[in-house]
Amino acid sequence: MNRIAVVPGSFDPVTLGHIDVIGRAANIFDELHVLVVHNPDKSALLPIAQRVSLIEQSIAEANLPKNIRVTSWSVGLLVDYCTEVGANVIVKGIRSQIDVAYETPMAIVNRNLAGVETVFLLPSPANAHVSSSLVRQVASLGGDVAPYVPKAVAAFLQQG
Ligand code: PNS
Repeated sequence: MNRIAVVPGSFDPVTLGHIDVIGRAANIFDELHVLVVHNPDKSALLPIAQRVSLIEQSIAEANLPKNIRVTSWSVGLLVDYCTEVGANVIVKGIRSQIDVAYETPMAIVNRNLAGVETVFLLPSPANAHVSSSLVRQVASLGGDVAPYVPKAVAAFLQQG
């Protein structure tokens, strides 16, 4: 049986915390889809295509397993994508109880909608404080984001 999982998110931009969780998930599942999804509740910094490109560069930089595919989805429910590619698991990284509270309703809705289960993975404690919103704020004010993001992302944000 080919075990296919999806790691969805805004990835605006991808952080070392995301790469940590993506790498752990890639070691558990046969095929892993990293899916950039527009979140209407958040105002975006980067266009979707740019986020996809930065994730691809970051995965190469971290030398993650070759069973990872990066793509985007903007036409419907996350579970519609899962059904389309034959994935029955969604993977989310959990940093704190706040993440558990945020993720739990989505996990239950996704299970009710299509029987897709959500698996929560813990990042390394070194990445537990890293978030895309923090990176966006530090970058917008001219601070150094290098400790929190892959080199490709730091280079991209510094040039912009
Ligand atoms: O990185 P984020 O912004 O926390 O990711 C949230 C995201 C994009 C995964 C979530 O908003 C989502 O799944 N959106 C797709 C729309 C959908 O399926 N909604 C219903 C179930 S939550």
